[in-house]
Amino acid sequence: MSSRNGPFKGRTVAVVNDLSLDEQRYLYRKAGELKRAVLSGGDAAEFKIDDNDYSVYLIFMEDSTRTRESFRNAAKFLGARTNVFDAATSSFNKNESITDAVKMLYGYSDESCFVIRSKLEGVCRALEGSLGRYADSCGRARPAFINAGDGKHEHPTQEFLDEFSFLEQLGQRDERIHIALTGDLYHGRTAHSKADGLRVFREVTVDLVAPELLGLPPQYAQRMRDNGFEVRAYESLDEYLASGKVAPIWYFTRLQLERMGESVLEKAPLLRKAVTFRKDMLGLLPEGARFYHPLPRDRLAPTNPTFLDELPLNGWDGQSANGYWTRIALIAMASGLIGSDFQGEPRAEESFEDDFVHEAATAGRVKQEYKVGIKPVEEGIVIDHISSGESIEAIWGHLDAIRRMLKLDVRGGHGVFHNNKGSYKGIISLPDVTSFGGRDLKKLAAIAPGCTLNLVHEHRVVKKYRLSMPPRIYGFDEISCKNENCISAPKNLEGVMTEFLRESEAGSPGGAKFICRYCEREHAFKDIWDL
Ligand code: ASP
Ligand code: CP
Repeated sequence: MSSRNGPFKGRTVAVVNDLSLDEQRYLYRKAGELKRAVLSGGDAAEFKIDDNDYSVYLIFMEDSTRTRESFRNAAKFLGARTNVFDAATSSFNKNESITDAVKMLYGYSDESCFVIRSKLEGVCRALEGSLGRYADSCGRARPAFINAGDGKHEHPTQEFLDEFSFLEQLGQRDERIHIALTGDLYHGRTAHSKADGLRVFREVTVDLVAPELLGLPPQYAQRMRDNGFEVRAYESLDEYLASGKVAPIWYFTRLQLERMGESVLEKAPLLRKAVTFRKDMLGLLPEGARFYHPLPRDRLAPTNPTFLDELPLNGWDGQSANGYWTRIALIAMASGLIGSDFQGEPRAEESFEDDFVHEAATAGRVKQEYKVGIKPVEEGIVIDHISSGESIEAIWGHLDAIRRMLKLDVRGGHGVFHNNKGSYKGIISLPDVTSFGGRDLKKLAAIAPGCTLNLVHEHRVVKKYRLSMPPRIYGFDEISCKNENCISAPKNLEGVMTEFLRESEAGSPGGAKFICRYCEREHAFKDIWDL
């Protein structure tokens, strides 16, 4: 039995970025070493766990052939105990939550790795938290969770095998890639994972070829630009081929019919036509072009038709075989088996600076508006600049929400007043309140960023704090993720605490944006609330 204390032991891979770039490069290097060793009959002992107490659970709640089978074979190669969990006949049908099911399976072996495919987006991130806490409470090793495709969010292990395949084609040169992504970029999770996975190349040009209804969600296109990629968009293969700037690497994706709403589904034949390759297009491809596809392809209407199978263009068969090598290497990393020879930048630790309270200068005197009824506040707290600049109606809504959320059932007054910019703001006066607890302060900052909190003593403002958007908004009953496929969405009854991470500030071009910690759906600030 091998020792397993590598630096990636217990690492969850819910999204591509759960491995740093250098860690991804390490994965590709190790998968390459393994592939060469096995194919040349060499020694692959480095990749043997040979321990029946290390379990790999395959939990597939959505259909799969190659992801499930390559993981199953990978676990077998490693010599781990392999369990293919039959989700279709399990107690999920008795409304069991995924957390309860996994907690129980975790009890069956010393150490475990769960490979999970689910319609619920963000499931691995949620389990990393809940099972991690559970493991800590019983003093046991934290299990690793590997996302084998979650709804239309991400498919990180597909991404790793894709990048491994592109690097192979380019002779391991990572200076530059020019790639076309075509097909269903809207629902296709493999396309979404490209926004981070392609960073392994130092210079990236991505051509997005899809009709508008199947276009890459703006959030991912923006992420590509933020990552420094050059991004171009075309509506059809015909338009793309006429552009004269055609990539030598093409990545096809299947139309994800099972995820489409009715209105898109009925247009599927027309949409498919725009992204289906034809014989007459062959002559328009650059020299040495190669096609890839995560597979499966639709046997009735493949976008990369079978006349291509025998041509040197076919990169997808070798690509799918690479799933085996990259998944062996990934489990080997997550089990702690390999990794001691890793050098480079590790993944950055998550940290959230609670930077939402800033002390501000006070003018001393109490403003005219700081009143309760007709009487100026002598002692207490006044919350000022609430929703400054918003409509009068929105400000009244916020005043009401703040009083309800902070349970301000005390004597006081509130109202809408002019601000000094010619528009309006809200004020709440609380003469009986002398301090705010940290949690209430955070709640106030979360619901009314930009407001000030004034402590009044003997008619004077003795302290003033300006509150800004907290970096993280979580644990409030009044927030929820609006993606109904998210593991944290209330309707899924998985008991996962809602958590939003600040992506951009109020003053930034698109306004304040938050992303759900689990499914990463982007929300405008006002959309996180259920008020
Ligand atoms: N098999 C891949 C996935 O599950 C691609 C596809 O099904 O189209 O995401
Ligand atoms: N590429 C891929 O994920 O295939 P399966 O759906 O067959 O697992």
